[in-house]
Amino acid sequence: METKIAVLASGAGSNFKALVQGDTEPGIVDILLTDNINAGALKLAEELGIESKYLYPGKYKTKFGIREEELWTQFLIDRGIQLICLAGLMRIVKGPLLEAFNGRIMNIHPSLLPAFPGLDAQGQAFKYGVKIAGCTVHYVDKGTDTGPIILQESVAVLDSDQRDSLAERILLKEHQIYSKAVKAHCTGRAVYSKVVR
Ligand code: GRF
Repeated sequence: METKIAVLASGAGSNFKALVQGDTEPGIVDILLTDNINAGALKLAEELGIESKYLYPGKYKTKFGIREEELWTQFLIDRGIQLICLAGLMRIVKGPLLEAFNGRIMNIHPSLLPAFPGLDAQGQAFKYGVKIAGCTVHYVDKGTDTGPIILQESVAVLDSDQRDSLAERILLKEHQIYSKAVKAHCTGRAVYSKVVR
């Protein structure tokens, strides 16, 4: 049976595009939601023929207003969404959204968690001098980038790398693993408390 997916993004939307174009079956990207009226993801949605919608997130910068988070949640419930994929959403999901969709929200993060959670993970890893960087798809819990890991992929750091060249190669891997993780969830191979290979 089909799993209706909503992708939540604030920025360029390359992971959103990868989810639309990748094999997520029986998951299907139903809608893109954004908190940023200028998000590149909105233009991509138009090009890809996916419905999109801007919803006001409230007055804060890195979290939702409580009333607004309730409205986002109700919108997603009314639409029959079964899985939420965060793809560069620049806000913490903690309140009503997490309660309503607990175990059904995924995120992609550009580091090998639990190393380098938070902002600019690629820059953190590069500055630290790691030789192996990478990316992680995980379920979202109350913490920041702390939920159960579904998939990870490594990326070797080259001597010639700068922060941005490393970030570019990590992003390419992100595009590969996100749809795989979504497919694993939608086919019952990944569940919140336990991730089965
Ligand atoms: C990605 O690096 C993702 O890991 C992080 O935000 C970035 C979003 O990029 N959470 P894009 O908007 O999908 O291109």
